[in-house]
Amino acid sequence: MPQILKLNEISPVADKEFPAGYTFTKEAENPDGIMLRSFNMHEYPLGSNLLAVARAGAGTNNIPIPACTDKGIVVFNTPGANANAVKELVICELFLGGRKIVDAIDWVKTLKGTEGISKAVEKGKSKFVGHEISGKTLGVIGLGAIGVMVANTAVDLGMDVIGYDPYLSVAGALHLDNRVHTADLDTLIKSADFVTVHVPLTPDTDKMFNAETFARMKDGAVLINNSRGELVDADAVLAAVRSGKIERYITDFPADCLIGEPNIVCVPHLGASTPEAEDNCAQMAAKELVDYIENGNITHSVNFPDVSAPRASAARICIMHKNVEGVISSITSAVSKAGINIANLLDKSKKEMAYMILDLDEKPSDKLVKELTGQANVLRVRVLG
Ligand code: MLT
Repeated sequence: MPQILKLNEISPVADKEFPAGYTFTKEAENPDGIMLRSFNMHEYPLGSNLLAVARAGAGTNNIPIPACTDKGIVVFNTPGANANAVKELVICELFLGGRKIVDAIDWVKTLKGTEGISKAVEKGKSKFVGHEISGKTLGVIGLGAIGVMVANTAVDLGMDVIGYDPYLSVAGALHLDNRVHTADLDTLIKSADFVTVHVPLTPDTDKMFNAETFARMKDGAVLINNSRGELVDADAVLAAVRSGKIERYITDFPADCLIGEPNIVCVPHLGASTPEAEDNCAQMAAKELVDYIENGNITHSVNFPDVSAPRASAARICIMHKNVEGVISSITSAVSKAGINIANLLDKSKKEMAYMILDLDEKPSDKLVKELTGQANVLRVRVLG
């Protein structure tokens, strides 16, 4: 029976998505599926049974994607499942960016025991005057599920919102409020009073905020980063804040050099830490795992194409293969030589990898499965009854 290893605490709502017979464990030699949140899997052994890894969250930089791909292990994430939680934190941080609320609250704590608190408050409050966000320009970098929600809410709060996303999806475009303008990255960086970043960490986005980026930003701009700490060069942002070029940096990813610095607000990675988001992510991750293990269907994978179809035939073969010329025809000719009719064939590619679902009118013999597994450029073959 399939064994699911949970490398982090995962909301128990996930367990209800699995059919009877699955077991859940916190330790396993060779599990069939892994669920995790922020556990660092980079040095983790990838066992021969492992079919899929599901991250209950959006970012997947804690998972060794190339190693998983090479072994035919599907990596799933849960885009959008925690988007509302992150959006609410970003909106809170826009206000923290405009006003000195964090410093002011800290100052009030120092008044404990003071005689005549209201007088002291009225006398001292002028140090904490801030700006309103209404009428200011917000730049949203990355218009995925979170970026779109942030942009739309900010428009409703009276901000002038500029969005940038070179990979804007049709769904993203359809959900984007028509009062949000889009622009190139340079225009956004140069014109925004507030910038919030919602992109994954990749070699291209690593330290995308560096000394050169800060030099192009508006004097006194506020930067908000709830995506990944590495998107912002910590030394460069420290220098930019200390010089006053950047009025405030608010991040969900504390770094030693940032903690305790005036005008830098470090939040302890709370973006998705709400029971609502944890349940949504756990449920979506579990559904993705079950549908893959039981039916071979792939939805929301970061390393294999999304391919899914309802089950309607005697047998299904799922084949991971390299996206190169001749593989599809050599698979289908092996099946037809074995005298089996192909009821449905789906094949899609994502970069150098491809995934095929073959629905057959009868069960394939062991000989045929062995032959398919041994074909050049075929990575993994699975037969589902
Ligand atoms: C994410 O990747 O979705 C966020 O970092 C939130 C999280 O996993 O806690």
